[in-house]
Amino acid sequence: MSQKIQSLSGYYHEYQKSIHQPEQFWSRIAQGFHWKKPWDNVLSWDFEGPEIKWFENAKLNITENIFERYLFTHGDKTAIIWEPNEPNEAERRISYSELYEMTCQFSNALESQGIQKGDRVIIYMPMIPEAAVAMLACARVGAVHSVVFAGFSSTALADRIKDCKAKMVLTADGNFRGTKNIPVKAVVDEALAQTQTVEKVIVYQRTQTAVEMKSGRDLWWHEVIANEPKANTAATLDAEDLLFILYTSGSTGKPKGVVHTTAGYMVYTHYSFTNVFQYSQGDVYWCTADVGWITGHSYIVYGPLLAGATTVMFEGVPTYPDPGRFWAIVDKYQVNQFYTAPTAIRALQAYGLEPLAPYSLDSLKVIGSVGEPINEEAWHWYHDHIGKGKCPLVDTWWQTETGGIMISPLAGITPNKPAHASLPLPGIQPLIVDAEGNELKGNNVEGNLCIKFPWPSMLRTTYGDHKRCKETYFSTYPGMYFTGDGAKRDHDGYLRILGRVDDVINVSGHRMGTAEVENAINEHPKVVESAVVGFPHNIKGQGIYAYVICDLEGRTEEGLIKEIKETVRKIIGPIATPDEMQIVPGLPKTRSGKIMRRILRKVASKELSNMGDTSTLLNPEVVDQIIKGAGLAP
Ligand code: WTA
Repeated sequence: MSQKIQSLSGYYHEYQKSIHQPEQFWSRIAQGFHWKKPWDNVLSWDFEGPEIKWFENAKLNITENIFERYLFTHGDKTAIIWEPNEPNEAERRISYSELYEMTCQFSNALESQGIQKGDRVIIYMPMIPEAAVAMLACARVGAVHSVVFAGFSSTALADRIKDCKAKMVLTADGNFRGTKNIPVKAVVDEALAQTQTVEKVIVYQRTQTAVEMKSGRDLWWHEVIANEPKANTAATLDAEDLLFILYTSGSTGKPKGVVHTTAGYMVYTHYSFTNVFQYSQGDVYWCTADVGWITGHSYIVYGPLLAGATTVMFEGVPTYPDPGRFWAIVDKYQVNQFYTAPTAIRALQAYGLEPLAPYSLDSLKVIGSVGEPINEEAWHWYHDHIGKGKCPLVDTWWQTETGGIMISPLAGITPNKPAHASLPLPGIQPLIVDAEGNELKGNNVEGNLCIKFPWPSMLRTTYGDHKRCKETYFSTYPGMYFTGDGAKRDHDGYLRILGRVDDVINVSGHRMGTAEVENAINEHPKVVESAVVGFPHNIKGQGIYAYVICDLEGRTEEGLIKEIKETVRKIIGPIATPDEMQIVPGLPKTRSGKIMRRILRKVASKELSNMGDTSTLLNPEVVDQIIKGAGLAP
C-alpha cells in the first residue's frame, strides 16, 4: 500500500486531488485497509448539526488492521520497544505476534469480566506496554476506551468516570516516574469512593506496591488473563462506532469528552503518520508523549502500529537519572524518528550541551515537535544540536479534536521554516478568518484558524452533550470548524500558529482551561473569587498566574497560598498548580461584572505599557493595587 508522498510536486499534486475530489482521494487511501464490509458512501456531512460520517456502513475492526493484516508478513517484527524508568532494568521488545496474543488474551479477559461492545472502560495506567494492550483490547471487543493521564487527581478521574458512566477501570499498582513511585491504585480507590458505575477494576502489577484489593471488585491482571486463550475473532464494528473518548480542557470549567470513531480515525492516523514522518519499514520511531494525551493515542499507539512500525515507549521522565536520558535512549535503540514537545526541548536546552556530549544521535533522520508553538530559539537548538542540521524538523500542528496532524511539513518533502507548521496535509482545508468570519485570502494575513471541510479523523461529538460540540466548534463561524487558535499566513504562504485565542492556556504542552483552574481554586473555603491567566514562561511556554480574593483571617498569606495550591493539585493534579499566586483586594471588572482579563494578563507578563483604558471599569483603583501587589511600579 503506497500512500507515501515522495516529492514536493507529488505533495502539490496529491493536495489538489484531495481538495477537488475529496471522496475519491480518501476512498483510494482507504482501499488499502482490511474491511469486513466496504462502505456505501465515503462521506456525508453537515457542519450545522454537526453530523459527519465517513465510510458509511463499512464494517471493520481497527485491530485487524494492526494484526491480521500483517501477521503473515511481519509477525516477528518488533512492534513495541519499551524502555523502563530505571536505565539498568531490562527493556522489553514485543513483536507483532506477541502483541497480537497479548491483545487477544486481554480482550478475552475483558469479555469474561462482563465487558460488551459499547461499554466505557477507563484506562489509568503508567507508560507500560500493557497500557497499549488495554487500548487495543478494548478496540478489539468494541468497548470504548477513555485513557486518563495518570497524573490527574482522584477528583479529576472521578469526574471523567461519572461523565462517561464507565463500567470498568484498568490500572496498575504504582507508576515509576523518575525518583517517584506514584500509588495509582490508591488514586483509583479514592475516585471510586465518589462514583457508582464501575463494577470491576483490573490491576497490573508493575511496582509491587502494596495495594488494597476490594473483594468482588478488584482483580489482578495476571490472574484474569491466566486461563484466557491467546487468539480470538475481532468484533465487527461499524465505521462510525465509537473508538474512544478523550477528555480535554476548554473555555468552560468542565473538561469535555472528545469522541473519535473507528474508520476515519484509522485511515487518517495511518496516513498522517506515514507521510509526516516518512516512516520506512525497519525504522525505529519514538514519540515521547504520554498515552494519556491524544499524541500518545495517535502517534505512539494507533498510527505507528497501523503502519507496522516499531514504536518506542518510555516509562520515565527526560531528566532521570540525568538530562541526557532522551539522547541515551536514541542511541540505545538507534531511533530514526524522534517526536517530542517544545517544553521538553526548552527544559533540556537549559542544561547546555554537556549532557549531549556522550551521544552520537547519528541514527536520527527526522525530528518532530508538537503541543504548543515552538519558539525560534528552541527550534534552532533542536534543529542544530539534536538534528545536527541534517534532519528535517516537523512542527506538527493539531489538536485532541482533530485526531491527527493537520498542518506540518512532510519530512524532507515540503519545506521547513523555523517556528512554522507551514502547509496543510492533503485533505485538510484550513483558512484564516477575521473576527466576523470573513476569509482572509492571500499572504501576509493574520486571524483565527478554521477548517472548512471535514477530514476523516475529526471529532464527531462531545460525549453526552452534542450541543456543547456545536457551540464550541461550529457556532463561532457558522459552516466552519473553529480551532480556537490564531494563525498567520506569511509572505511565502506558510502557516504559523500563534497560540490560543480563547480561555485555554497551554502549560508545558498540556491544555488547561482557565475556568477549570479557577473552579479548583474556589473550592478552598477561604477563597472568595479568583481569576486565572497565562503568562509567558521560559520552559513551560505558558505558566499559570492566579489572582485570588480571599479571607486571610487566621492565616498568613504564604500559608494560605500553599493551601490553595494544594487544593488545585488535589482537584486537578500537579500539572495545574499555579506558578504564581497573588492575593488581591479585588479583580478589575467591567460594569457588567465581567473580569477584564486583558489587564490581568499584562500584569502577569510584567508588561505595563498599553494598559488600555481602565476608566470604564467598575473599580479602576484596584488596578494600581494589583500592580503594586505584583511588585511592579505603576
Ligand atoms: C497547541 C495536542 C503551535 C494549539 C496535539 C492547539 C500547537 C493545542 C502545536 C491542542 C504546534 C499543538 N504549534 N501550537 N505545532 N501543536 N498546539 O488538544 O494551541 O493537547 O489548539 O493536542 O495545542 O492541544 P491538544
